[in-house]
Amino acid sequence: MLQFDNVSKSFGGVNAVDQCTFTIPSASITGLIGPNGAGKTTAFNIIAGHLFADTGRIVFDGQDVTRLPAWRRQHMGLSRTFQLPHEFSRMSVLDNLIVAAENRDGEHILNAIFRPGRGRTREQEARAMATRTLEFLEIGSLRDELAGNISGGQKKLLELGRALMQRPKLILLDEIGAGVNRTLLGKIADKILELNASEGYTFCLIEHDLDYVSRLCSQVNVMVQGRLLTTGTVADVRNDERVIDVYFGGGKYQEHA
Ligand SMILES: Nc1ncnc2c1ncn2[C@@H]1O[C@H](COP(=O)(O)OP(=O)(O)O)[C@@H](O)[C@H]1O
Ligand SMILES: [Mg+2]
Repeated sequence: MLQFDNVSKSFGGVNAVDQCTFTIPSASITGLIGPNGAGKTTAFNIIAGHLFADTGRIVFDGQDVTRLPAWRRQHMGLSRTFQLPHEFSRMSVLDNLIVAAENRDGEHILNAIFRPGRGRTREQEARAMATRTLEFLEIGSLRDELAGNISGGQKKLLELGRALMQRPKLILLDEIGAGVNRTLLGKIADKILELNASEGYTFCLIEHDLDYVSRLCSQVNVMVQGRLLTTGTVADVRNDERVIDVYFGGGKYQEHA
């Protein structure tokens, strides 16, 4: 589904992503793990088109998207959630989803004014889909709440819902589990597994909790200091001396990576 091919990105003197290569297989749930500052979020930003790579190539669904803007990638089916939720806090939960669908179609809000018939149908469609999405995520009861008033965990579900509204092929989840209570965390995992199994959605997720990652991910890519350290199952990488060192040790490999 995605090739992240020899990509580098620096900010001033910091090589946030440094000749990094990994893949996200189609229909997989793949993890992207590594210590803080490893370059994971920067990699997601480059995949989504919110940042451009200095060098290297991004191939999504068979197409080179390296130079395409984020909205073009979105229309091709590439969707992401943010480490800090990006909800519109003064809008209802339902409207937050509807707006996410508008982004998908590249549909301008002016269409609703100048081409009212068309706009209305589209809005009805988006509304129906938003309602279904909220039901699926089991937050239907929150539909009329202001998004700013729901809990942090519920905002994470809303982020997932907003991503789903774009009918994506690949969803990038940046620490969707961070700061979420156990119960909700389990529910988010169930939904991800269900979407993967029944709809064939591909996921790539950044997460720190390795138990959580091992429940979801068939394969993980481990990043350290902007580079790919290794790839494997969670069990594989957990037993990898270099990974243990980076996470728990003195950082021998981190210094020399
Ligand atoms: N916009 C930016 N400007 C300058 N430095 C940045 C920026 N974004 C990230 N960095 C730096 O790049 C490195 C990787 O950051 P990040 O991708 O956020 O890591 P991770 O998500 O793995 O914790 C860090 O050293 C961070 O400080
Ligand atoms: Mg990050």
